[in-house]
Parts: sequence; C-alpha cells; structure tokens
Amino acid sequence: MKEIILGIESSCDDTSAAVIIDGLLASNVIASQSVHEEYGGVVPELASRAHQQNILPVVDTALKRAGITAEELTAIAFTRGPGLLGSLLVGTSFAKGMALGLGIPLVDVNHLHGHVLSHFVKESPEDETPEFPFLCLLISGGNSQLINVKSAFDMEIIGRTIDDAAGEAFDKCAKVMGLPYPGGPHIDRLAAEGNPHAFEFAKPHIPGLDYSFSGLKTSFLYTVRDGKKSDPDFVAHNLADLAASIQRAIIETLMQKLKRAIKETGAKHVAIGGGVSANSGVRQAVSDLCEQLGVRAWLPPRKFTTDNAAMVAIAGWMRYQQGDTCPIDLPPFARVTMD
Ligand code: KG4
Repeated sequence: MKEIILGIESSCDDTSAAVIIDGLLASNVIASQSVHEEYGGVVPELASRAHQQNILPVVDTALKRAGITAEELTAIAFTRGPGLLGSLLVGTSFAKGMALGLGIPLVDVNHLHGHVLSHFVKESPEDETPEFPFLCLLISGGNSQLINVKSAFDMEIIGRTIDDAAGEAFDKCAKVMGLPYPGGPHIDRLAAEGNPHAFEFAKPHIPGLDYSFSGLKTSFLYTVRDGKKSDPDFVAHNLADLAASIQRAIIETLMQKLKRAIKETGAKHVAIGGGVSANSGVRQAVSDLCEQLGVRAWLPPRKFTTDNAAMVAIAGWMRYQQGDTCPIDLPPFARVTMD
C-alpha cells in the first residue's frame, strides 16, 4: 500500500501544502501573501488572517494536483515551529483537525529541519541527495545558521547570527533604496548590472562561527545618507552599484564563516537553504568555495529555497519512517531550536 504524506507549512507569510507519495513529490502549492508589501515587512496579525483564508483552498489544491483524496492520506506533517506563533497556530490547528477527522497520525516538523531536508525532496527517483554528515548554511528572512547535520534529525547549530538574519540585511538595505518588500530578489536582479566594488561597507568582526549583519546595514545607511548630502538623487543614480556592493559585502560575510566551518568540521558535502539561497551571487560563491576546497556543493532548486510545504512533507515522511508521530495536544513553538 502507498504511503501518502500531506505536509502543511504556515510559519511566516507563505501558506503551503504538499503531497509526498512513497518518498516522491506529487504536489507543492504555495500561496504567498501580498498584503505585507505596503508595510515593508511581515505584519504577524495580517499573516495569521491570510493563512486562515488560504489554508483550505491550498490544501484542497495540493490534494487535487497529487490526484488523491484526503481519505487516502497515511499521515499529516505540519510545521510546529519556529516562526510566528499566530501563523503556526493556523497550520497546526488545521493539521490536527484534519488528522483527527480522518483518524490518521500527525507528524510534527521543525521548520529548520525542513529547510535542511529540502535537499531530500525528490521529483524523480533518480534525483541525488547529500550524504550525512553534511554542513548546511541556512539563510532566510528570519534565520542565518551554520548547521552540522549529523543525520536526518540529529542537527547541531554551530554558528548563528547575533543580530539580523542575512535576508533581513537584504530587505532592510532594499528598503533604504526604496525597493519593494521583500527586497532580496530586487537587489539580486539589480546587482547583476552594477559594480560590486563601487562602495565599501564596515566588515563585521565576530569571533567563532557566528554572524552579524546589523553593522553592514548601518554602514549602508550612512553611505546613502552621506551620498544624499551632495546628490539628492544619489540612490537613483547609483542603484545598481549600491545593490552589487551590498550583495558582495553580505556574500563575503557569509563565505568567511562558511569556509571556516568547512575546515573545522571537515565536511565533505555542503548544502545551502532558505530564501537567500536563491540569490545568484550566493549560489556562485558557494559553488566556487566548494570547488576550491574540494567538497561537494548542494544548491536547492530555487522553488525549494523559500518557505514551502514540500520540505515539511519530506521531513514528515522521513520522521514517519522512523515511527515518529506526535500527540494531538502538542503546541507550536516560536523560538529557534534544533529539537
Ligand atoms: O526562507 P524565506 O522564504 O522565509 C523567511 O524566513 O522569511 O526567506 C525569505 C527571505 C527574504 O528576506 C528575501 O528577501 C530573501 O529570502 N530572498 C532573497 C532572494 N530571494 C529571496 N535574498 C537575496 N536574493 C534573492 N534572490
């Protein structure tokens, strides 16, 4: 009999549902929330309300695209945390209600495990996957971590940001440039046309494998403020150069610690994940670094970089294989943990 897992993701501002049949992805539906654009960041209360509106049609579409009915499901996996509590509550409650109604098991998934395990989402049986242990650089709007992935569910954070996440750095600098939210993809696009060495920004000096991005952001802010003193249209006149230079600074910061982590752990496989892993410059820099160090780089397909339920469904499927299901009264959690 087929093993069919429905995955549900609602940790931030994307409502997503995916179906995995016997370990292969059958559907992955994502409803992104445009309601936050005018505020320049995710508004938690609006996110929860949008999840409420989206979740039923998103789940329904995921089941239809997979060509199955709810009654055929083996188990339901859901993102338990970390994330925005109100948003998580929508997905968690929906998954619980559905599992209870169908009389099938629930599997809780840590969102960060999901990002790391997105490399195990297979669209065809021939798709390759990384070998354990491997190192994962997780970079998104809310997270920037270096994770030592010993096995599918034994992961240790060996480096993390002490202030802003890498995606936040992209988004905040983009906001200063008057670009729409989220600004990361806009900087990526503009950077392709600019000179990455046009501007220099203060480099963080943080010990160990930890990251810091708030100094870069402040330095960027001062560059723009000072530039405007002599030219009120400074940003418009230097858009591509500013984008290329801040992107280079963020990438150099990321690569410095990644290189150190590869050397310290002796990792032979290096993966990246999270929204910022869609960035063309980041992808190129990780490929180059891995080639230079003789290790294998794993770059996720762009559609699996941002929040999606395919990664939740595959993590749920892997947990289910180990017999890990969860009780109906398990609450969601907001804070970052690798448990
Ligand atoms: O993983 P994700 O969807 O969820 C959050 O943690 O919010 O990541 C979203 C982040 C945003 O900060 C967005 O600007 C960034 O990923 N991002 C990018 C690119 N695509 C998305 N940053 C730089 N370049 C990109 N191409």
